[in-house]
Formats: sequence, structure tokens, C-alpha cells
Amino acid sequence: MTRAVHQSTPHDSASLHVAGSARYIDDIPEPPGTLHVYVAQSPHAHAKLITLDLEAVKRAPDVVAVLTAQDIPGTNDCSPVMGDDPVFISSHALYCGQSLFAVAARSRDAARRAASLAVAQWEPLPALLTIEDAMAAESYVLDTRTLERGDVDHALQNAEHTLSERFHIGGQDHFYLEGQACLVVPSEDGGVHVRSSTQHPTEVQHTVAKVLGLADHAVTCEVRRMGGGFGGKESQPALFASIAALVAHHTGKPAKVRLDRDDDMVMTGKRHDFRVDFTVGFDASGVIAGVDVVHAVRCGMSADLSAAIADRAVFHADNCYHLPAARIRSFRCLTHTVSNTAFRGFGGPQGMLGMEQIIAAVAAHLGLDPLEVRRRNFYRPGADTTPYGMVVEDFVADQIVDELADSADYSERRAAIVAYNASDAAAATGIRRGIALTPVKFGISFTTTHLNQAGALVQLYSDGSVLLNHGGTEMGQGLHIKVAQVVAEVFGIALDRVRPSSTRTDKVPNTSATAASSGSDLNGMAALRAAETIRDRLAVVAAERFNCAPEDLTFADGTVSCADQHLPFDALVKAAYLARVSLSATGFYATPKIHYDAERFQGRPFYYFAYGAAISEVSVDTLTGEYRVDRVDILHDAGRSLNPAIDLGQVEGGFIQGMGWLTTEELWWDSAGRLRTHAPSTYKIPTAGDRPRDVRMALWDQGENREDTVHKSKAVGEPPLMLAISVLQALQEAIWAESSQAGMLLDSPATPERLLMALASQHNE
Ligand code: MTE
Ligand code: MOS
Repeated sequence: MTRAVHQSTPHDSASLHVAGSARYIDDIPEPPGTLHVYVAQSPHAHAKLITLDLEAVKRAPDVVAVLTAQDIPGTNDCSPVMGDDPVFISSHALYCGQSLFAVAARSRDAARRAASLAVAQWEPLPALLTIEDAMAAESYVLDTRTLERGDVDHALQNAEHTLSERFHIGGQDHFYLEGQACLVVPSEDGGVHVRSSTQHPTEVQHTVAKVLGLADHAVTCEVRRMGGGFGGKESQPALFASIAALVAHHTGKPAKVRLDRDDDMVMTGKRHDFRVDFTVGFDASGVIAGVDVVHAVRCGMSADLSAAIADRAVFHADNCYHLPAARIRSFRCLTHTVSNTAFRGFGGPQGMLGMEQIIAAVAAHLGLDPLEVRRRNFYRPGADTTPYGMVVEDFVADQIVDELADSADYSERRAAIVAYNASDAAAATGIRRGIALTPVKFGISFTTTHLNQAGALVQLYSDGSVLLNHGGTEMGQGLHIKVAQVVAEVFGIALDRVRPSSTRTDKVPNTSATAASSGSDLNGMAALRAAETIRDRLAVVAAERFNCAPEDLTFADGTVSCADQHLPFDALVKAAYLARVSLSATGFYATPKIHYDAERFQGRPFYYFAYGAAISEVSVDTLTGEYRVDRVDILHDAGRSLNPAIDLGQVEGGFIQGMGWLTTEELWWDSAGRLRTHAPSTYKIPTAGDRPRDVRMALWDQGENREDTVHKSKAVGEPPLMLAISVLQALQEAIWAESSQAGMLLDSPATPERLLMALASQHNE
């Protein structure tokens, strides 16, 4: 029997991707009369708008409409949760780059040129730009939250050793290849059809309806694919969709917003930067008795998704380690900078890095191999609970770490590196080397419990081919092919008989964002159920014809069989159609077992955990700060992978993206609050040339989800990003080898400049 699941089949758009013929928003043929929209921005981080004179803009060539906050028929808000993200500034600018007004013209250039003719008078106000500014001013966008378990003060006072440190974790721009884009076509009855590059079609639908003052049923949002999202298209597309829809609504013409790279980087939210303070108490063997951790989180000018993101950082402040006593406080800083947003890992990476740096500091203090300290603090499966009260039933990080350390010769390589760093050769060349092994435990489920639901619509045509719709969106991660595999498996037909189609709010309503890595868990299950409903109907028809029980039928290799009786699947479908049997069905899924009391920070917010581990080895030139990642070994648990090729792609891509976050991707704002790294000339994402030369990665062959997920698979989209913590810690090890002051924690991103400064400060001590 040929199976559709657990096979390494290519991405359904792979050939279109490489041929450049996959269509993104800007590739869709423009309907006649399409207007091009430019969004004018605030030049100030914090200022009061006194007057705005747009007469010259309106008179400029080819301009058709100029719209401001006054032109919004519904509500001037495009926020996902809190009602605090205006579409256009009405009185105050809260960040540099905030949307002020829109110009619609016959070309984008004309719109852009016209926008520069606006005359605005501002009264500049003092701006809080950094975490330090906000903490000093006690400026918070959301309430401070504390997760506490056990008697932390007692544990720290009575510990044999304590350490207190502070370090900073930088943000990250999503740098999706396709920037924010939206094309809106007005319909005949006052509604709009919105094509958006969004991970969250339902939210775009709701926001456009709210801004235009329409009912949800008047707005349809459609997404064929995104050229990358990475969390940057969860809440952010709502602004641009609202503006395009507003123009379409006012002019009756199709309208398109497409940001260029610079505007995209300036206007849209990024990964939250963090300042982490900790005190840890531990014994002489490195066993942790308690931690007191403070996260200061830069949220920017509004709440956006920061509540859930900062919470997820708290949920991951343990990573793989049992913390008998723990206090984790989370300050959600309000600054006059762009509102930070979802980014692969959704706060988890920052929380986890905090814990891994605690381990590194403890190991350095005791002069132990950090891997030993890790092992001594690992959760014991089924016995230990997380600080938020969830029993860690499925813990396998210890097994994965053992297997990886073994297969990659961690101990031998570490010993060789320690010996090399002490050698004359190292002294002569100034090259120091480092190696680090870090594990990942990532909670799978939206912590906002109600979001853990999904719907699907499966349509079987009378020729036996299947059109597949579900609530998830495709952003390159391979969700559509995985869900198609699940459906093909149900019917026992070839994968090419199942066609994934655009995600549309008029086909599957009330969907959650494709986020939290849950796309295939949720939509795969919903589609499975829809397909099974149809298969059960077909089974009745076949059983009658074969004169057998429906349970005795098999659907495999394009054939339906009962003992030695066979019928081609397509023939059965035709027969069912002629017998007037419905050939389409919806499916619905809601994740079981999860519950969570947000007030008390207690419960089982996650259905299960995804695990992995990585070893990175690096060389650092201590004279220049330049470095290279020489080798990476990864073992990752994708459960029983639905598609190993796709999942390995996610592991590799996630790792490299995480490496960029922690090494080269530096966001830099000037003292006026202007982002100065807003193009690839100044903002350095990893390129093909930065991929480590020697990458050995594998999916864990014993991986199996102990929960009842779709074909026992595990979510894989975000967890591998955090494997890159090993790169930062390997760099740190190399720096520490140069100094007697081992233990000084590196801020990230660990750019060559920052490494050089760390080395210089060590020399000065
Ligand atoms: N992979 C690609 N190629 N492009 C992306 O935009 N986004 C990541 C991850 N992998 C992303 C990606 C993020 S942030 C998430 S939450 C998941 O994919 C979402 O998809 P999934 O739930 O289907 O894994
Ligand atoms: Mo991913 S940050 O959950 O979109």
C-alpha cells in the first residue's frame, strides 16, 4: 500500500517557487483602474499634530484620493486585541513611521511624490525609546505579571552559591521576501474582496469590516500564499488591508498597497528586545535551587500581541530544567517605537535564552562542562512540574541530548577545543574556538485557549479529484502539502488528486492565525475529519455494491476493496454521485486536554512539547571579532513526521534564522527614534554564504507524539529557531577562553563589533 503521509514529497509549489511563477500579491494581474496607495508616515517618535495641510497633495498629478483619520466610516483602529492601534494618526504620533494619511494615485511613484508635498505642523514631545528609558519612567503598556512557585527568597538565601547577572537580547526584523501587500476589489453591493499577504485572513476580514463599518459577511479575505510571514504577518497586515479597503470603499476602484523594503522595515513591528536580570541559587554540583528572573520587554507604542508574547517568554523561562523555586516577573515596557509583534517563537526564544544563559553562568562559575549542569537539572518525565503547574509528561530532551552528544562526539571535540585554546597555536593566531550544546523544549498550543480550533472544507468532485480548503495559510512552511497528504491518505488516492487552494474566509470562517506552529496540528485534524465524513458516505455505497460491511473496506492505491472485490476510487465516486450522495463536507477540530487560568498563571496551556538539541562549533578571530560557525549538529523531534523533507527544511531554516537573530541582525535606532537599519545594506540577515559549512541534521527517529495528534506528528515551525542558542553560547565559550574572567554573558546580537568590545572589556579588567 502506498502511503501519502510520512513521505518526503516536495512542497506543492516547489516548481513554481524555483521558476519564479508562484504568484504573490504584486503578481496578481491588476484589475483595470487599480489605484496605487502610498502611506505617509510620522517623522517624529512622539509629537502632537497641530495642523495637517494636504491641499498640495490633492492637487498633485495623477492623485485620485487623499484620506486621513476623518475619512474612516467605521472605527479608526486596526489593533488585534486592545483597540490601541489607529489606522491613521488623529492627534498624536507615537512612533517614527506611524501611518498619517494615504494617497491613492494612478501610479505608486505619483502617490509617493505627492505625499511629500504635505505640510504638517508638529509639537515634538519627549520620547521614551529604550527599555532603560521605559523602566526608569515606569512606562508600561500592560500590567506587570509574575509567575511564582515555592519560597524563592528562602531558596536563594540558603543556596551554597548565588549569582546575579544582567544581559540584553536584541530584536529582529522578519525580512520576509514578500513585503506587506494587499489588493482590494470593491464588490457591487458595498462589500470588498481583500487579497492580503496575511497569516490571519479572519482578522483582516474583521478589521476591514470594523474600519469600514460593515458586517463581517460583506468582507472576504483570500490568501493563496505569502512570501514568508514568520509572525510578521499575524497582526501587521491589518493596517495595510484597512488602508487599501478604505481607498477602494471611497473611490469604488480596486486599490493596492505594496510597501517597499525601507517603509516595511520602518512601519512594521519586530521581535521584542528584552533585558533579562537574574539571580540563581545552586549547589556545588550545579543543581539549581531557585531563580529570580526579571524580563523587561520592549513592546513599543501599543499592546499588539505583547501580552501573549511576554507570557510565552515566562512559560519558557524554564526551558528543559526543573526549577524548585522560581519567580519570573515580566514588565511590558511602553516606548515611542514601533509596536513589536509576533516573531517565530513568540517570546519563547527570549525566555529560553534567559534560562540557557543562567546555565552557562552557573557552569562557568563552577568550572564545569555546561552539558553536565544541564543534565543535572533536566526535568524528570511524569514527576516534575513546570513553574506554571503542568506535569512534564513527555520529556525526551535528555534522550535526544544523549544521542546527539554521542553521534557528534561532543565530549571529545570539547576536550580538543579546550586543549587547542590553551595551545601556542591559538596564542600565535589569535583564533579561539568554542562549542556548545543546547536543548529546546517548546510548548505547543496557543496559550489563548480558544484559538486552538480549526475548520476545513473538503470537496470531492465527481471525477474523483479533491479540492482542499482549510483555515491555515501557506507561507512557505509546507502546510498545504502536509494537509493534502493527510486527505490523500484518508481516501487512499495519489497526492496529485488533491489540490490545495487559497485560504478564504467565505469558505472556512472564524479561523485562527496560522501561528504557534499549530497549522498542521489543527488544520490537518480538521481536514482529516472532513475527509473521513465523506469516506464514510462512500463506504456505504461501496458496501452495498460489494455486499459487505463498511468496516471491511479498504481505501488504498486509488482502489476501494473488500476482500477480492475491487473498484477504482473514481468509479466509486461517480457511483456515489449518481446515487445522490453528498461529496463535500466540513470538518472541525478543537485541541483537547488544555486548560489554563490566566489570572493565576497555572494550568496546562500546552497540549504537548516539541524537543530538539543542537551543537554548534565556532572559531573567533580575537584580533578582529570576526567569526565563523564551523559545524552544526542537530537532532530534532518532529514526532512521526508528516513529511520529513519539509520538516528538515523547517529545522534548517529555523536554525539559520535564529542564528541571524543572535549574531548579525542588529536593529539600530538613532537618538530621535528613527530606525537606521532599514534595508539589507545595513541590516544583515544570514545569506547562503553564512550557512555553516558542515551541517548535520536529522529528525529523531524515535520521535512519536504521545498525544493523539494527526498521525502522531509534532509541530515543527518555530522550535528549531531556538536551536541557534548554541551558536551564541559557542561564541561566548570562545570569548571566555581568551580571558580569566569567564562568565561574562554576551548581549545579542553578538556581532563582530560586540565580540571585540567584550574582548576589550575583559582585557581591561
Ligand atoms: N517557514 C517559512 N518558510 N516561512 C514562514 O513564514 N513561519 C514560521 C514557521 N515556519 C514561516 C516558516 C512561523 S512564525 C510559524 S508560527 C509557523 O511556520 C507557522 O506555520 P505552521 O503552523 O504550519 O508550522
Ligand atoms: Mo509564528 S510567530 O506563531 O507566526
